Amino acid sequence: MVEISDIPDDGGAPNKKPQEQPPGEAKTATSLASLPVVLIELIVARVPICNHPAISVISKLFGRITSSPDLRHARSQLAITDHVLYALVGHPPFPPSWHILYRSSNGSLRLRRVNTLPPMPYGPAVVTIGHEIYVIGGSDVSGRYLSSVTVVDCRTHTCRSLPSMRVARLRAAAGVANGRIYVMGGCENIHRSKDWVESFDLERQVWIGTGGEVSDVSGGFVTYDVVKEKLYVLGLTRSLHVFEPKEGKLLTGVAYNASDLTGLWQGSSCVVDDLLYNFDPGCWRGQPIIVFDPEEGVEEGVWKPVRGVYGLPPQLYWYGFESKMANVGGKLVILVGNQSQYWNYYGDKYIWCVEIALERRQGGEIWGRVESVDVVFKTSESTPIIELCRTVIV
Ligand SMILES: *[C@@H]1O[C@H](CO)[C@@H](O)[C@H](O)[C@H]1NC(C)=O
Ligand SMILES: *[C@@H]1O[C@H](CO)[C@@H](O)[C@H](O)[C@H]1NC(C)=O
Ligand SMILES: *[C@@H]1O[C@H](CO)[C@@H](O)[C@H](O)[C@H]1NC(C)=O
Repeated sequence: MVEISDIPDDGGAPNKKPQEQPPGEAKTATSLASLPVVLIELIVARVPICNHPAISVISKLFGRITSSPDLRHARSQLAITDHVLYALVGHPPFPPSWHILYRSSNGSLRLRRVNTLPPMPYGPAVVTIGHEIYVIGGSDVSGRYLSSVTVVDCRTHTCRSLPSMRVARLRAAAGVANGRIYVMGGCENIHRSKDWVESFDLERQVWIGTGGEVSDVSGGFVTYDVVKEKLYVLGLTRSLHVFEPKEGKLLTGVAYNASDLTGLWQGSSCVVDDLLYNFDPGCWRGQPIIVFDPEEGVEEGVWKPVRGVYGLPPQLYWYGFESKMANVGGKLVILVGNQSQYWNYYGDKYIWCVEIALERRQGGEIWGRVESVDVVFKTSESTPIIELCRTVIV
């Protein structure tokens, strides 16, 4: 990676006439600023996108370059992509808004609100496709269920609307498979069973009812993930629902012990390489991170421990049930705050971020290594509630 701060001032070229410089450009940029802008763009294009906020403050020139569409063009020309984490964080009484995880100029990770994006509904179902986040349903401030769908373009930080769903949904489950977005449950009137599951055809841009039966009457869900092309959904009453998109129906009966799966599965989970990872604050399998492979029958329980995960911050165990996990380019990233949404203290509230690299060793055991622990967010206002986090490819 190019370390901009390592690039020397132009003290080494005494015979050169100093470049004309617009007022306000910082000194650090002097030598780089003498390069043609297209060349600087190509250099910046190779810097991971989470470092761009740090680069943008070097000088006005870098500020312009990092926000310019030409940079996006240069990145796509060079086929450079990055995995970037977006977290939907609420600060009651305000509705949740998107925050982005980036690296600040001193190298530590930070979570920053994306001010150019509008506030989001409460309790939407969220999926990502490439550089886009689909925010599906949820409720407005007065608690009304929504059928609207908003697509966030993470390259430009702009939004567009999709056709509305056939029914309004709050805390629904959603997953992408077969060129469609499947959305399940969360309906206000659970007896409208014919629309309990519907899907959005990405090519034709239309919603299609699937006529599936209702399999949970509790309304919303705790969490959901797509594992090996099936949508796994955890109900509020610890019920398990597995939707098979190819057949267009819910699976009844699974090969493994479903109560063993739902017993330890909680809202802090994600999928890496088609395996479901979950944070278990109680360490019931002897380790804090556990993993589930639906194709593996395991005698001693469906969850297997991920070995070697040491050095997690204690807050992750204390507030682990409110933590959120995501797959960022094959690594597990977990966000956790040091205050519960269920009781509000005064004082400072922090959010920590933990990065864990994964490795499959001989014999199939999975090992994890904690790569970083950072305080990424601080506030003394209302408790931040991390609704979920998702990764986009930009
Ligand atoms: C990095 O900078 C932030 C302010 O931008 C500061 O709060 C933090 O303590 C710094 N971290 C390190 C490791 O110096
Ligand atoms: C399924 O898992 C639960 C919880 O771990 C356990 O109590 C039960 O005995 C298991 N059932 C079978 C058939 O293995
Ligand atoms: C959260 O953690 C910070 C840093 O350890 C601490 O100063 C603050 O008091 C904590 N807040 C709560 C509510 O525990």
